Amino acid sequence: MSDVTIHKGLDNVIIDESRLSLVNGTEGKLVYAGYKIEDLAAHALYEEVVYLLWNNRLPNQTELEALRAEIAANAAVPQPVIDALKSMPKDADPMAIMRTAVSMLAHYDPDSETNTPEANRRKAVRLNGQAVTLAAAWPRIRKGLEPVAPRADYNLAENFIYMLRDVAPPEQTAVDAVNAYMVLLTEHGMNASTFATRVTVSTGSDMHSAIVSGISTLKGPAHGGANTEAMKMFLEIGDPANTEKWFVDNIKSGKRRIMGIGHRVYKALDPRAAVLRDRAEALAKGSGNEKWFRIADDLATLARADQYFIERTLYPNVDYFSAIVLYTLDLDVDMFTPLFAMSRMAGWTAHIMEQASNNRLMRPDVLYTGAVDQPYVPLAERG
Ligand code: ACO
Repeated sequence: MSDVTIHKGLDNVIIDESRLSLVNGTEGKLVYAGYKIEDLAAHALYEEVVYLLWNNRLPNQTELEALRAEIAANAAVPQPVIDALKSMPKDADPMAIMRTAVSMLAHYDPDSETNTPEANRRKAVRLNGQAVTLAAAWPRIRKGLEPVAPRADYNLAENFIYMLRDVAPPEQTAVDAVNAYMVLLTEHGMNASTFATRVTVSTGSDMHSAIVSGISTLKGPAHGGANTEAMKMFLEIGDPANTEKWFVDNIKSGKRRIMGIGHRVYKALDPRAAVLRDRAEALAKGSGNEKWFRIADDLATLARADQYFIERTLYPNVDYFSAIVLYTLDLDVDMFTPLFAMSRMAGWTAHIMEQASNNRLMRPDVLYTGAVDQPYVPLAERG
């Protein structure tokens, strides 16, 4: 068996073709269906990017308004799901809540077990809206507040801030930041959670099941869970005066990793991190509290100058400065990963539809290293 190559962690394994996004890890470049992430983050509405991924071109004004309205009109979460959320433990992990809630949504979706392109598109519309409604509902429900229903005249970023705070119209600075965050997080090649959705749908399973796989996979701290972990780390540092000592005690000592730094593909600065750093700085200045941005930026600067990080080409990833953006918006720290999930919904659903349109069952292999030909000893005769 010495001629077998094991691709542990599936590094550099190309599973298919995709027209959805280009992730160039050496140049630190990210393109969604032809468009640079920097341009989209600066100018595009999240729904514009959703249209781009689902249709492979940008919409005109009429097409964009039609999609915005369609998603908003389908963003409500059925009452039995809301009632079930109210019965769940208030201290449950919000990603586990989202996983359960999306699984429940399938029971109330008329297309749940129909996997035609038309049904998949209808489900994708509903899931993109409902994910935002769920992410705004849970922080309210666990505090004993009533969830707020989505409004048909709002886009998703507006609806998120409106449903979270129950204030209309929603504050524009927060809406702009959430929209830019959602655009930056929409899609990212064959990352672990997207791969999980494609594996699930490759068996002929349905979109809700695939999204549950995606949420379950995103939850881990090596993937989407890193934004929450990064913020916990900044909170632990607590004051810019502590940053250098914390770095020496925890990182130089080799005891811990800096959460939000490092990436399997990017061996240059993650372009999303560059945009989010500027956003985080502007929001922090605007809020009058620059402390958390200062800690994050100083820690990144210490790492950038450190031989260990230089040798291993470790740079901030998307989760690093997004933690500061979301914290400045006054979001609960453990809600950061559900925000990632609601933003990635467009990418996941686009990949699911792409996989379904040209499917081949995903079935890799593993090199067996256990025993063979063991004699079966009857239970009564085993010592
Ligand atoms: N801090 C300190 N050292 C690190 C870090 C870090 N954040 N990340 C990697 N390293 C080191 C490893 O210890 C290892 O060193 P070694 O070669 O001396 O053993 C080397 O860099 C390579 O690390 P691997 O874990 O082998 O790299 P891999 O590609 O498997 O991991 C990962 C990538 C999981 C993202 C890693 O960098 C990490 O754990 N980062 C922190 C968590 C994080 O931010 N995850 C979010 C990623 S982006 C996303 O999914 C949205």
